[in-house]
Amino acid sequence: MQRKIGIIGGSGVYQISGLEAAQWQEVATPWGAASDQILTGRLNGTELAFLPRHGRGHVHSPSSLPYRANIDALKRLGCTDILAVSAVGSLREDLPPGDFVLVDQYIDRSFAREKSFFGEGLVAHVGFAHPTCARLGAEVLSAAASAGVKLHQGATYLVMEGPQFSTLAESRLYRQWGADVIGMTGCPEAKLAREAELCYASLAMVTDFDCWHPGHDAVDVAAVIATLSANADKARNVIAALPAALEARPGACPCGCDRALDTALITASEK
Ligand code: ADE
Repeated sequence: MQRKIGIIGGSGVYQISGLEAAQWQEVATPWGAASDQILTGRLNGTELAFLPRHGRGHVHSPSSLPYRANIDALKRLGCTDILAVSAVGSLREDLPPGDFVLVDQYIDRSFAREKSFFGEGLVAHVGFAHPTCARLGAEVLSAAASAGVKLHQGATYLVMEGPQFSTLAESRLYRQWGADVIGMTGCPEAKLAREAELCYASLAMVTDFDCWHPGHDAVDVAAVIATLSANADKARNVIAALPAALEARPGACPCGCDRALDTALITASEK
């Protein structure tokens, strides 16, 4: 099956250029409106759909993002895969600002968000031990290599509710837990993508050292934005190189992302 790639752009990535037949589209969903219209088109022969996570102009906060509408809108447009781009703080000395990491695990400490498409009436529990798609991740690594962008493979992302940044005690605690990076949007986005049977990979740009680092004080939004602006082109270059890095003859997802519900529904079907 031909793949169609949804890109969810984070802070600093509100547009992508070079799309053929580019068109901003409104997509209605039963979960309300998505963060913004979605830019669709073709890039090097691959169908792409781009959604700015916070909306153009950065109007949605992490706690008020329409996560379900965003994933559902991309699914309705026929996306098979989602590459999520986001800004994160670093909890490790060897992940300095400006570096990129391919996230493959989450510790979800968010609490004020709708986290599932399921609930009363239809109950489902999808597997989430391996929250990202290894095939898409390998393709993103290969795109980064061909774009000349250094990408650390594998990182645990601590999802905090925000909007305030962490206290020093929290930041130190998250390091002890083994988290590598911290951000405010990775979940429930990845969880909903799994429920929607979409392959999902997360490309995170490190923008700061959070507050645990003795050489750096509290996180400063101006410094975060400066790092984002200086490195946004690298994220765009990885996206531009992705179509050429996709598997030539795609079949079903080898990780089973596209069949996640086969073993997840617990509510009996009506006779
Ligand atoms: N996004 C970017 N930097 C962050 C940090 N230090 N904490 C939470 N979210 C972030």
